[in-house]
Amino acid sequence: MTFLKQIGRRRFLGMLGGTALMGAVPGTLPSVQAASTASAAFTPDLEIELRAVQESIPLLPGAPTSVWRYRGKVLNGDAWAVTHHPDSPLGPVIRVHRGMRVRIHFINELPQPSVVHWHGLIVPEAADGHPRFAVGPGGRYVYEFEVINRAGTYWFHPHPHGMTGPQVYAGLTGLFIVSDDEEQALGLPAGEHDVSLVIQDRSFTRDNQLQYIGSGPGMMGMMSSMTGFLGDRIHVNGRPDYMLAAERRPYRLRLVNGSNSRIYKLAWYDGTPLTVIGTDGGLLAVPVSRPYVTLAPSERIELWVDFSARAAGETINLVSLPFVASSGGGMMGGGMMGRGMMGRGMMGGGGPAQGSAFPVLKVRMGQGAAVSEKLPGKLASIPALNPQQAHNLNAPRSIHVTSSGMRWSLNGRVFEMEGVANDEVVRLGTTEVWEFVNEAGMHMMGPMPHPLHVHGVQFRIIDRRVHPSAMAAWRSVSDGHVDGGWKDTVLVMPGERVRVLMRFESFPGLFLYHCHNLEHEDMGMMRNFLIKA
Ligand code: C2O
Ligand code: CU
Repeated sequence: MTFLKQIGRRRFLGMLGGTALMGAVPGTLPSVQAASTASAAFTPDLEIELRAVQESIPLLPGAPTSVWRYRGKVLNGDAWAVTHHPDSPLGPVIRVHRGMRVRIHFINELPQPSVVHWHGLIVPEAADGHPRFAVGPGGRYVYEFEVINRAGTYWFHPHPHGMTGPQVYAGLTGLFIVSDDEEQALGLPAGEHDVSLVIQDRSFTRDNQLQYIGSGPGMMGMMSSMTGFLGDRIHVNGRPDYMLAAERRPYRLRLVNGSNSRIYKLAWYDGTPLTVIGTDGGLLAVPVSRPYVTLAPSERIELWVDFSARAAGETINLVSLPFVASSGGGMMGGGMMGRGMMGRGMMGGGGPAQGSAFPVLKVRMGQGAAVSEKLPGKLASIPALNPQQAHNLNAPRSIHVTSSGMRWSLNGRVFEMEGVANDEVVRLGTTEVWEFVNEAGMHMMGPMPHPLHVHGVQFRIIDRRVHPSAMAAWRSVSDGHVDGGWKDTVLVMPGERVRVLMRFESFPGLFLYHCHNLEHEDMGMMRNFLIKA
């Protein structure tokens, strides 16, 4: 049975988990009208049709690969706002300017429910892609929002409960790139010198079809979900063996980890340091240098890379360096899973263990003359980090990574479609500290890294603290953290606690926070929180 047929069978996995409300939320949930038609009151600057379709694409020598992908089309507005990668399952790149009003008509041509989440964008509740707004086969949903985010690399993907992992894996991923006046005044490399690179790991069957984790009953299926899918080869922008043909000049590279579970430790093979100019929520105040960058699922890093000193015709390699993913301990974590002793083909989709080294992509220099350009010393204005603004600085809201039997959970709870606990209500217009806590050695499945993501906000990282027993694993990735800018996802290693500062200032409603290891998310490592007006 092919993977795409298999995931049709998984559609009711989304029903797993309780449906009762945990605790009584003061008042009832505000009712939100799911948008099936465009509103007359909204005048878009850009109107797009976005279809989720099944296609067959030649990816490897031999038989074409069945994929699910997004196809976009501009209905009204600048035709250049939507572009596609040729011969790739990757969805379109949508490019907009801050302040634009966008209407997107989503049409689901898949055999199962889906919904689109605009990852990192701050949009009204009805446009955020909550799983309760998933539409069935043939269904439509109209997203309307003004782009209020700063310039940055955002992205979009499906978010139906229990099916996000397989749908993203089947190909449903696109980019949403925002520019603004502050960014454009910098004169950073633009046009063909501004390249986005979506990194994903994949495994294939012998007849070139995508292979996902064992989804059947029994230990193997369960344990691969506990780890998350780990493929055995890297695709960039939907293609294997990716090579970027570059000129000898500076580039802006936007790296996006679109993988289900795999974390990368990205570096130039020859050891050249990386100049980082942006994170999830856009440009940093000033460029920073790193020996490598750590990129967990859904995180973005923008680099300024100067190829002008490279030789004509030279090829350079971007690789993912090995790291220690687990601090050891637990029934399977540090032992079997962490060191890959279960072997290929059995765990997590058949690929090498988390933390294995990989080649990622090649850049080949052209023959033209070298062009030099200066990187501005100051990039963007970012307010100083001021945790004193939080009303709960002395008693942060804490989100503990927990496991309930063979499922990861948050604060001991799994996802409920409309469930919000009393301690998951925040007030619009307030600033809070949240502390993500990943205690090592607490779980039967062993310690694991978890990339934690919050909808409806961009946050700032205050600090990280690590338990001494977990230091070795943490040190193997920590020089690659870029914590100075705006973030919507933060990697929390085993034994680590991370405090973040966030302000709920734009929209009230029911939003999500969850692990962006998509297999963890699908098994319920996700919760609602309510922003109360
Ligand atoms: Cu990219 Cu709720 O996710
Ligand atoms: Cu997780």
